[in-house]
Formats: sequence, C-alpha cells, structure tokens
Amino acid sequence: MILKRIYLFLTFMLAFSAAFSQRVSKDFNANWKFYLGDDSTLRYAIKDSSKLEKVQLPHDWSVKGAFSEKHSTTSQQGALPAGLGWYVKTFNVAYTDKNKKIYIEFDGIYRNATVYLNGKKIGFRPYGYSSYRYDLTQNIVFGKAHYIAVKVDNSEQPSSRWYTGSGIYRNVRLITTNPIAVAHWGTFVSTPKVDEKLANVNLEVSIQNSQSTLQSVKVISTILDAKGKTISKASSNLNLKDSLNSVNQNFVVKNPKLWSPENPYLYQVKTQILVGKNQVDEYITPLGIRTFYFDTAKGFFFNGKAMKILGVCMHHDLGAIGAVVNESAIRRQLKILKDMGTNAIRVSHNPPSAEFLNLCDEMGFLVMDESFDMWRKRKNKFDYHLEFEEWHERDTRDMVLRDRNHPSVFMWSVGNEIREQFDQSGTKIIKELVDIVKKYDPTREVTTAMTELEPKKNFITKADAINVLGFNYKHKLYATLRDSFPNKTFLATETASALATRGVYIQPQDTVQLWPANSRNKYMENLNGDWTVSAYDNVAAYWGTSHEESWLAVKNKPYMAGLFVWSGFDYLGEPHPFNYPARSSYYGIIDLAGIPKDVYYMYQSEWTNKPVLHLLPHWNWKEGQKVEVWAYYNQADEVELYLNGISQGIRRKTENEAHVSWSVIYKAGSIKAVSRTNGKVVLTEEIKTAKAAVQITLKADKETIRADGKEISFITVSVADEDRILVPDAMNNITFELVGDAEISAVDNGFQANLQSFQANHINLFNGKAVIMIKGDEAGEVILKACSPGLNSTTLKLNLTK
Ligand code: GAL
Repeated sequence: MILKRIYLFLTFMLAFSAAFSQRVSKDFNANWKFYLGDDSTLRYAIKDSSKLEKVQLPHDWSVKGAFSEKHSTTSQQGALPAGLGWYVKTFNVAYTDKNKKIYIEFDGIYRNATVYLNGKKIGFRPYGYSSYRYDLTQNIVFGKAHYIAVKVDNSEQPSSRWYTGSGIYRNVRLITTNPIAVAHWGTFVSTPKVDEKLANVNLEVSIQNSQSTLQSVKVISTILDAKGKTISKASSNLNLKDSLNSVNQNFVVKNPKLWSPENPYLYQVKTQILVGKNQVDEYITPLGIRTFYFDTAKGFFFNGKAMKILGVCMHHDLGAIGAVVNESAIRRQLKILKDMGTNAIRVSHNPPSAEFLNLCDEMGFLVMDESFDMWRKRKNKFDYHLEFEEWHERDTRDMVLRDRNHPSVFMWSVGNEIREQFDQSGTKIIKELVDIVKKYDPTREVTTAMTELEPKKNFITKADAINVLGFNYKHKLYATLRDSFPNKTFLATETASALATRGVYIQPQDTVQLWPANSRNKYMENLNGDWTVSAYDNVAAYWGTSHEESWLAVKNKPYMAGLFVWSGFDYLGEPHPFNYPARSSYYGIIDLAGIPKDVYYMYQSEWTNKPVLHLLPHWNWKEGQKVEVWAYYNQADEVELYLNGISQGIRRKTENEAHVSWSVIYKAGSIKAVSRTNGKVVLTEEIKTAKAAVQITLKADKETIRADGKEISFITVSVADEDRILVPDAMNNITFELVGDAEISAVDNGFQANLQSFQANHINLFNGKAVIMIKGDEAGEVILKACSPGLNSTTLKLNLTK
C-alpha cells in the first residue's frame, strides 16, 4: 500500500516535471553515418548502408585524407582533400515532449550545409564558421523516429587561403524547451559602470513566446559568484505579447571581483522564467566584470591600468586532428600560450568555436573576434565573396549575438586585409558592418585589420566609422601613424610573419632575410634542400620581419595598444615560402605538433615576470665549425657563456635587442650560459653534446584522462643517448602499440613538409621530437609502447577514468 502511494506520487511528480521541466540540451554527436560523395537519395533515406561509415561528430573528413599536390585545395589549404559529403542519422523524439519546442543547433559546418528532416529541406547556410539553429518543431511527429540528413558541399575549390577542414567539425545539440523560453542567444549582459566599490550590471533578456495565447510571466535573474553564492537579484513581471519580448534588468555588485587575464574571475547570471509558480525555463549567462578603453597617447587601459595587448593570431585548426573541435587540444594550445605570456588572441579570420571562447573566459585571454577575410572582392575564386552580399548581415549578427556575453571578447573585427580598403566601396561597407555590430553590441569597439597606412588611399579609414585602427605589418610606419590619423588609436593587428622550422639552425646572417625577397616570385627556392627554414629568428616573408624587430617596434611606443603576432601556432596550409611538399605554415612561434620553437622564449622573456634563460642551438656540430650561440633572457643584467668551462665572454642586451649572441668555434662537450644580476647568479642553462641514440623516451602532458572519447593525452616522444641526453637531430621512425582500450587520435612531428599520415601508428621524429595523441572511451589502464629498430623500446602507463 505504502509502496503504491509512493509509486503514484513519483508518477505524478514525473508528469508534473515533464510538463514544466526546463530546457534540455542533448549532445547530438553520436550515431551519425557518413558518405563521402554525392548521393541525393540520402536526403530521404538510406538505401544502401554498406557504403556508409559510422562516425562520431565533430568530424573533419579532410584531415583523414592523404597529402597530395593533386588536391584542388592546393598546398595553401594543406594539400588535403575537400569534396562533398552527406551525414545522416535516425533519432526519436519522445511523446512526452509533445508540447515542447525542438531545435537542432550546429556550431559549425564547413561549408554550404543543407539540412533535411524526413526529406524536407529545413535550411541552408553557406558560411563555414557561423553557428545556427533550426526550429524542427513543426516537422516533428512526437513519439516517432525521424531521419535527418546534412549535405556538406566543400567541393568548389579553392575556397580559402588556409586549411578549413570539411564536414560537421563542431558540436551538434538537440535542444528542447517549453513554448515560453529565453530566445536563441537571448541575453545580453553588460557592465555600464565599474569601480572598486561597485559594478552596475545590466541584463537584457529576450523571451520567445511560441503560444498564441497571451501570458504573464515573471523573470527572475540572479548574479552568482564563482562559488554559486547569490550576489544580486532582479525580478520583473512581463505580459508576453508578441513572439519576441524583452525585459531589462539592473543589478548592483558590491566590491566586484574583476575579471582579468591574470585572474579571470567569473560570475554567472541565472535567469528563471516563471508562469504562475511554475518555472518554465532557466538560462545561464556568463559574466566577467572588467573595464577597458583605448587611448590616443597611452594605448590601452584594462581595469584602470595601462596594459599592452600581448597577442597572437590563431587559425582554428588543431594541427594533426584538423578542424575537429577538441576541448583538450584547445586547452593545451592556450596553456602553452599562457606560459609564454600571451594575454590576447585574434581569431583569424573567422568566428571561433564556443569551446574556444569558454576556455578564454576561464583561462584569461582577451579575444578579438573576427568575422571575415573578404567582403565582396575575392581572394580566391570560390571563397565567401560569393555569399557576402546575401549573407553578411546574418553572419555578422550571429557572431555578435553568440559571442557578446563572453568576458574574453573585448573587440570585434569585421575583416582582414579587405581589398575594398583601396576603393570607394570600402567606405560604404565598413559603415554598414559597424552599424550591424553596434546594433547588437554598442559596448565594444569595432576594427578591421588593414594594410594601407596612407590616409588618402585608405577608403575604410576615410569612412570615420572606427576609432581603433588595426594595421598589419609595415612596422616602420608606426612612427607616423599619429600624424596620419589624428585622434585615432592603434593596434598592430598582425606582426612578424617570420618563418622557422623547429630545431633547424642555418648559421645566421647579420640581417633578416626575406623569403622570397619580393612579390616577383611566389615561392622561394628550396635553399636548404629539405624544405626547412632556419629557426634563428632571421627569416621572414617580405611583408614582415623578424619576431624581435616587430616586437621592439611595438614595445616602446605607448600609443601602440599592442600586437597580434602572426602566428601563435603553425597551422595547416599556407606553407610560405614553399609550395608542395610543404603543406603547413612556417609562421608559428610554436610548431604544428605544439612544440615551441626557440623564439617562444624571446616572447616569454619579454612578456612574463618569470625568470627566463634560453640557449640555442643544440651542441652537436662538426669539430672546428663556427657556430652562432644565442641566448634569450630576462631579470638579469648580463649573461656569460662557457664552452667546456672556458668563458666565451659576457653579453648585455641593449634597449634595441631582445637576445645576445656569441660566435663560437665548436668543440664537443657542453655550452653553458649563466645569467647574473649584480654578479649574483639568476639562472644557468647547459646544453651537452649528445652521442648516438639508444633509448626512446615518452612524456605525457596528462597521465590520467577522462574516458569520454574526447580528452586527449599529448605524449612527446624523443630519443636519448646512453647518458640520457636528448639527441637533437634524431629522425628515427617510431612505431606505437597500445595495450588496453584506447586509440591513437593522431601523430605529428611538427615538420611542415612531412607527408606521413597524421592517422598512422608510426612517425619519424623530426629534430629529435614527435607527439602522439591518445584518447579512449573505456575506463582502465592503457600501456603505450614505443619501438624503433636499434633503440631500446619504452612504455608509458595511462589511466582512463570515467
Ligand atoms: C597576412 C594575412 C594572414 C596571413 C599572413 C601570412 O597578410 O592577413 O592571413 O596570410 O599574411 O604572412
């Protein structure tokens, strides 16, 4: 009897909560099937499942392909295949969801994505970097199975100047809400006034009313601190009239904890919508309280203090795993950049993933969110210029609505090196784009990255629609910017475009070499004979210069708000100065596999407060050879170099230098650098000559990972001699074996012209190093075994936990 009562009560409670339960967001990435090729019958049903491959989203079919110079994408897009593909999936919608709204959300599909539900076209979006959702409700028969098909057409090439990936490469969710709910991207939080004592917070909430009947609702929003404690609350009553209604709520936060790159403190705003006593929706908006502005004389102020924007530009690919969004891979990249002292990222040249922005909020990076690489005028035959006219308003709006609540996003960029800066149409388009952004976010500055520094010739600046002028390269003209553009503020939106292959040291020249020297040649001859570029910071594209020179050009000019170095990491595609077999870029401070090049330590020594002393090159040369030895250092007033214990002299940086150097006649043994302040040793760094390789070594960034099929352990592979000294020029082929339930997600050695597959169980070391990426979805212990002929093999234990 008692049991029966409990049962009845539980059934009642379940029915009650089903009626009023709030939005449910379901991961919709599993159980898709994929066909690479065109088959329009897949729009309606699967006729022949034998040709379909089971896939888990997010998915990028390009990165799984083989490198070839025959692909229409060319080496500029990574020499990987593009094409057309279909994704299909069957799913059920529960009968208990009968009165609900059902939406499907796509974070990003590259590109030209048409979505069909049970054969009916639901929508089409061309831009591969926009996020969008479709309302499926009208086409849902509750309690029945449904068939969804997504046609992804990336066949017309070339469509981009860099690697894009192909497919549903970001996450997909199925969202269920009540008919009255917070609209899509329906909140906007801002902080109109902030000081030490208090912050005024404003929240606009848009509410979707999908019922024909009028309703009065209560909207309660609560600011919660990082521990979940209530800080401030606002409540409003509202009579819903039309389909879209909005309400404005104001809050005071006393003694606010400010969000900053050093201390990214996050609040949240929880919004509840009540009809009578029943809560029909709950929606979370992130909140970071901070202030910033640009100043004509002093650059940039953040939370009241002058601050240089120390940024890098990043493309969206994650190296060997391609365009597939992967939180652990993004987190790893951001951690490496954080350790270098980076405080800002320019997402070039398209909106990033939601995961990327969430991590920037959490880890403390300022983000310049950028929409386009072109407007109406093309950079490639099949790029977005074809769609700009019809879609720019929608895509710009969607970027701003999606991203405006992220505390990390501090400004918008509506374009990169846009061709229209050189003609009158630029004046009209910039005004229009700025108006669109300001309509949805009047609180942030809008800029665009330009190359024309002559005011009479720049039709974008002539429009006077933007206050912060972004300029790429041409660092020698920074000195005249303030005369050319009075009352404006300045940001070096791109610098350097210096080139390097990790671990390659061609003995340097006195001056920076430009490869190729000018625009007369598209590609550089293969001078080193092996598609490498020296990693002494002394080679650059002809429009750029060395990292050191471009940083110093910004460093000592207070009116330059900061810089975004091109680029943080190497990325797939754009292998300037070479063509195929080179297939990934040489621009990164960090290589494609995530291993820092030497110049990383130049930035670290300039951008952080931690003591740095970094010595290059390695110490394995020919007896008697003249070798240039460089050191990057900080927090010391001199560095002394020793060769086998004998001093090679003391060096001190001048104001116009970021490194010191010695010319040394090579002798096997060791070089050792000692940095000192007032004669007291700060740091020492020693590099020893390595003998023949005998032993493989493995080092994981994480030995324990979640068994969720997503989190990756990145394991650096190297080889050491009998004294455990790493062998800097080792190129051994290493084969991997996994014992236990896990898989190799990818392998890479960071060399820009390596044509081995990322998807193999073996890889050649490049200059002593490679990286293997492991993930899995079963809990348990996994042993990674690494072998190579003539070397002692080794193992590493990983724990996968649920
Ligand atoms: C810039 C461009 C970037 C990248 C870079 C390489 O002009 O904006 O996207 O191509 O050159 O140096």
